[in-house]
Amino acid sequence: MALQTSQDTTARLNAEALHGTIFITDNLPFLKALDTESIDLICIDPPFGKKQTFTGNLKPPLSKDEQRIEQELMESWGVNDPDSAYELGLEYPDQAGTTASFQDIWNFRVRVSKDWLDALEGVNPAAWWLIQSTRYTHGDSHASYIAFMVERMIEIRRVLKPTGSVYLHCDHDANAYLRQMMDAVFSPDNFRNEIVWSYRTGGVSKKYWPRKHDTLLFYVKSNSYSHNPLQERVQYDRPFFTTQIDPKGDYYADVYVRDVWDNIKPLINVSGERTGYPTQKPQALAKRIIEASSNPGDIVLDCFAGCAYVPVAAELTGRKWIACDMSPRAWTIIRRQFHKHPDLGILTEGELASEGIETRLEHADRVIRVRGPQNLPTRTTPDAPEPMRLSTLPEPEFRQRPHETSDEIWQAFVDEWGTRCWYCGTDKPANRRELQLDHIEPNKRDGTNDDCFNRALACAPCNGDKSDRLSVEETINLALEVGRIATPALRDEALAGFHARHEWAKDRWERIKPNRMDI
Ligand SMILES: C[S@@+](CC[C@H](N)C(=O)[O-])C[C@H]1O[C@@H](n2cnc3c(N)ncnc32)[C@H](O)[C@@H]1O
Repeated sequence: MALQTSQDTTARLNAEALHGTIFITDNLPFLKALDTESIDLICIDPPFGKKQTFTGNLKPPLSKDEQRIEQELMESWGVNDPDSAYELGLEYPDQAGTTASFQDIWNFRVRVSKDWLDALEGVNPAAWWLIQSTRYTHGDSHASYIAFMVERMIEIRRVLKPTGSVYLHCDHDANAYLRQMMDAVFSPDNFRNEIVWSYRTGGVSKKYWPRKHDTLLFYVKSNSYSHNPLQERVQYDRPFFTTQIDPKGDYYADVYVRDVWDNIKPLINVSGERTGYPTQKPQALAKRIIEASSNPGDIVLDCFAGCAYVPVAAELTGRKWIACDMSPRAWTIIRRQFHKHPDLGILTEGELASEGIETRLEHADRVIRVRGPQNLPTRTTPDAPEPMRLSTLPEPEFRQRPHETSDEIWQAFVDEWGTRCWYCGTDKPANRRELQLDHIEPNKRDGTNDDCFNRALACAPCNGDKSDRLSVEETINLALEVGRIATPALRDEALAGFHARHEWAKDRWERIKPNRMDI
């Protein structure tokens, strides 16, 4: 294919021609081959950084035909054994055809290149420092997992359209680090939600609260993203202001779906949808994301596709889709998903040619295709890298020390005005517990408010009442209300007294400031 330039008005982004294609390859070269700003929605459920191998028992095991087709496909890519699969970045499936598995085990030797990591420091120092700090807090295994994700996420951001959205599925093991990674790659301004998908299935521990939720991080590429708010019907025990009553007499309200999703059931062994692929997610989850964050005809990408919960949901909601997974076994299960699905019945390229099978092609006016590691698309957008370039930061400005210590200011105030509270006028013992040094304007943490022009002597009750909530006048009014000031006339006197002392403190600051700047 001829390389097209940005001036070429007839240019079509390569993703548009890839609808219904599954790439069986490491997703990094695949993502690099996709055109810039060509995808509307990216929804991924990658390994979670759990340091284990996940294996599932397929329901049913591969038939002889499926084994043959899988074998022929791998042979056509030159994959004959685990070593040749590894060379191509593929997971070698078990030969008995009874299981599917993927590795979630990490170190810097596998899938992280030193050259890339060295270059990252100049391109995105925030992500580079995150990887380094993860080494300290969580060790090299976790840090290499984050590095693996950063490299792919930079490409994911590049291929996303400016109007696009991305959802990253994770759990407690890495969500804090992945959130920072997303901030580093997409910017915190583009964070939209941390969605909690909660469920009740699976094992429990009695040593801590059972971990019963996954997290979906939702980011956008820019503020011009599209979002279709979804509604759901919620039942209530008793009426409140928006509740209605249905014919059965139950109270309900139609409300916007919030960021806690507790009504999408995870797949258990008896679920009809269950394929046996490890960590398979329900289509309802993908369907909700796709309906909210894309429109019919949009292109949805899942580059950790597993057995294709995203592509199937995209197909059912009228979106276009592209998928990628490094496991040939994933492809075999995806094929099953597409032709066995009661609403799809879509066949794959190879099967169409098989004798007699055309008759099953009821709903599909097309086929889905598989492509191997040697058959990636050709990128037609200019090659210029488009990472989010973050410059290195200047040195932070540290908090200035106040020009006098609090003890010095307190003593100067007592020497001049005695030990009465500046708010209520009550005389107090001369110690800093009972007669405190208040900030008139709450301390803003930038260190500019600690000097005497912003300080006042306050008895503990007035200081406690004022806290960072009340103004001077409100504090004095409250002292009248609670009886520390006896009469309104004394309140007026206290207010005038306060202002006189404050003016004096400001003058004092002007007098001492030039001499104290070098402290
Ligand atoms: C958590 S599973 C996804 C399961 C999927 N959501 C489903 O419902 O079936 C993660 C998938 O990522 C794939 N994977 C891991 N590393 C990959 C890589 N570098 N490139 C492509 N796929 C990869 C694994 O083969 C596995 O199928």
